[in-house]
Amino acid sequence: MVLESVQPEAPSGPPHAGISARGLHRSFGPVGAVQGMHLDAFPGRVTALVGPNGAGKTTLLLILATLLAPDAGWVRVAGFDPTTDAGEVRSRMGWAPDVLGFYDALTVAEYLDVMAAAHRIPAAQRHVSIPAALDSARLIEQAHARVHTLSRGQKQRLSLARALIHGPSVLLLDEPAAGLDPRSRIELHDLLRQLAAEGRTVLVSSHALDDLEELADEVVFVDRGRTVASHRVDQLPTNVGARSYRIRSLDAAALAQALGEHGVTPVPAGPSAVDVQVYGGEQNAARLLAELVASGVPVTAFGPVGGSLEAAYLQLTDDDQAVRR
Ligand SMILES: Nc1ncnc2c1ncn2[C@@H]1O[C@H](COP(=O)(O)OP(=O)(O)OP(=O)(O)O)[C@@H](O)[C@H]1O
Ligand SMILES: [Mg+2]
Repeated sequence: MVLESVQPEAPSGPPHAGISARGLHRSFGPVGAVQGMHLDAFPGRVTALVGPNGAGKTTLLLILATLLAPDAGWVRVAGFDPTTDAGEVRSRMGWAPDVLGFYDALTVAEYLDVMAAAHRIPAAQRHVSIPAALDSARLIEQAHARVHTLSRGQKQRLSLARALIHGPSVLLLDEPAAGLDPRSRIELHDLLRQLAAEGRTVLVSSHALDDLEELADEVVFVDRGRTVASHRVDQLPTNVGARSYRIRSLDAAALAQALGEHGVTPVPAGPSAVDVQVYGGEQNAARLLAELVASGVPVTAFGPVGGSLEAAYLQLTDDDQAVRR
């Protein structure tokens, strides 16, 4: 396949110290992994990169992390171009890939020492930066444990500690919450929020939409290699199109009958629940609930399935590609 020639277009405003990308393209043979992505991630904010499997999230992050050259496009990370100033970008950027190879025979502290040395951090300074990274990643207690003995969640945290070792101003994290238990997820959120509050730019890819709603300030939706929308999380559109609501009732037959009378088709969602599509926003959902109760249906729960982030995501990505829980 011959690639379209795309002229890099710099944004018109003044450059910022976070991440900017415009018109990014990258193909692998016939596969157009990134086909026109644009993105801004600002200092002091957590930006979520959200999209279905194969959308191009990892490819984009690899480009930002200087590990993959784009075929076309304009990109800046911490004020530098990863394609021409990789060294400048790497000294200011921390990268935590989705799968990290570890030197299993080393202890956690030894591993971070090797990584700090790779960043050319002098030995005297490493005595400060390694405990600081261990502390940030809540790994102080595991400092002398061998890497291969860590749990999956602890390895995720070590990956984060490694990304933080040189005090970067931009953090790129590919699915950092994968495999974490609920408490570890909350701790990760707290840590990423704190890192953003310190003025860093945090870009994080994920499928865990409910979590992201609590974590992210901005969300960039990507699908099939393209940016489909960017929003502030507190301004996500929730009152457009259809939204799924889950209804539980003590009397499944009465619920099914009442929904039928209102022309609503229920979809079973477990033994005592159904999902229905409600069009036209929350007022219509409230009206449906009131009518069910007025009809004598013993409703015990009625609420949207997933958060507003999930609603927006499912609307913006194709149903057959979207990841549903
Ligand atoms: N090195 C590669 N060689 C060939 N194709 C690749 C390569 N890397 C990615 N791709 C393809 O590019 C597309 C985007 O992949 P990418 O890994 O960026 O998606 P993703 O959004 O990170 O997906 P996931 O959510 O599953 O991690 C996919 O179709 C993938 O098969
Ligand atoms: Mg990926």
